[in-house]
Amino acid sequence: MKFATRTIHAGQPSEPETGALVAPIFQTSTYEQESPGQDKGFSYSRTNNPTRQRLETVLAELEGVPFAAAFASGLAAENAVLQAYLRTGDEIIIPLDVYGGTYRILNKVYQNFGVVTKQIDTGDLKAVEAALSNKTRLVWIESPTNPRLLITDIAAVAKLAHARGALVAVDNTFATPCFQQPFDLGADIVVHSVTKYLAGHSDTVQGAALAKEAAVFEPIKFLQNATGAVPSPFDCWLTMRGLKTLELRMQRHQENAIAIANALDGHALVRRVYFPGLASHPGHDIARRQMTGFGGMVSFELDGTLEEVVAFASSRRYFTLAESLGGVKSLLCHPATMTHASIPAEARAQLGLSDTLLRLSPGCENAEDLVEDLLAGLADVASARASRKPVTAAAR
Ligand SMILES: Cc1ncc(COP(=O)(O)O)c(C=O)c1O
Repeated sequence: MKFATRTIHAGQPSEPETGALVAPIFQTSTYEQESPGQDKGFSYSRTNNPTRQRLETVLAELEGVPFAAAFASGLAAENAVLQAYLRTGDEIIIPLDVYGGTYRILNKVYQNFGVVTKQIDTGDLKAVEAALSNKTRLVWIESPTNPRLLITDIAAVAKLAHARGALVAVDNTFATPCFQQPFDLGADIVVHSVTKYLAGHSDTVQGAALAKEAAVFEPIKFLQNATGAVPSPFDCWLTMRGLKTLELRMQRHQENAIAIANALDGHALVRRVYFPGLASHPGHDIARRQMTGFGGMVSFELDGTLEEVVAFASSRRYFTLAESLGGVKSLLCHPATMTHASIPAEARAQLGLSDTLLRLSPGCENAEDLVEDLLAGLADVASARASRKPVTAAAR
């Protein structure tokens, strides 16, 4: 079964009792037992729920593995993986450009329990080799990264990590299984912020953790019930509704991202464009090899002042200034003050996250409208500069 067919058919048969094409939302906390301890496979909805089980089946099918656990957020899924595998004295390797929340949970929560985080350029295989030690339990890969869309060679890092007995977890939020299949590249665990492209409509917060091997999955599954950060049946149903158009949406997101990257690349007011589909992107060749698409995200550095960046970001017609990404409606984010604000300014500077970096999540609108909106914003910056007036939202 091909990918698009799986998004619509996998784990989603018509409801057997009534024939309803779309299965109902099993909005129940508990289940009647025939006699004590005798249930029909469901005893309590934190432990399991038919709607959640259907979602987990689809997610597993899309990543091409047998095991998936749905969580109440991407970070809850990450936490289950970290809690399952990290103990005092253990080390974890994370990318320089890792999602701010991943950085925060490791540096503000797991550090308190004596877990050591090594933040390195996972795109540099020599740096990965040097960082690996006998204490490395997990190597965490995000590829493309958030927000600079840097690429890591997943297969090469998995080889190095496995040789030292470490597990490899890949945050596949940005690429989605539509464009990248990390298990085929050697990943042991995949995590998702389902909130983003998988659900796809900016109307639910959810996460997932998946594994290929039962032994790797079992402690994660145990923690799903033991710590209880599960999504509601309604949220699971919303995600299944969204997943049915995942391939269509990803194709449109990517088309829009390509149009935007091409329009911004070389613009006089743009210092740098980050998009793995550009031949000038440092990870372009690896991305071509390990992905079947370049994704839908574009970041760029505006060649201007912080004030100009703030005015540009606050006044776009189609790009709503908001955290998050991956929905049908375009979003724009200023990582330094929003998604990555939890990283101290000095650390951000060391990581190359400049204060003039903007991250775009083009939605499924018309590409020409989106490009026009961005170019109009840059033209506003230029004309305000020419008239030596500060750019403000009111000036437009
Ligand atoms: C790459 C990535 N991973 C994980 C997360 C965390 O997911 P959630 O916000 O669903 O907890 C995010 C959120 O922005 C993200 O961008």
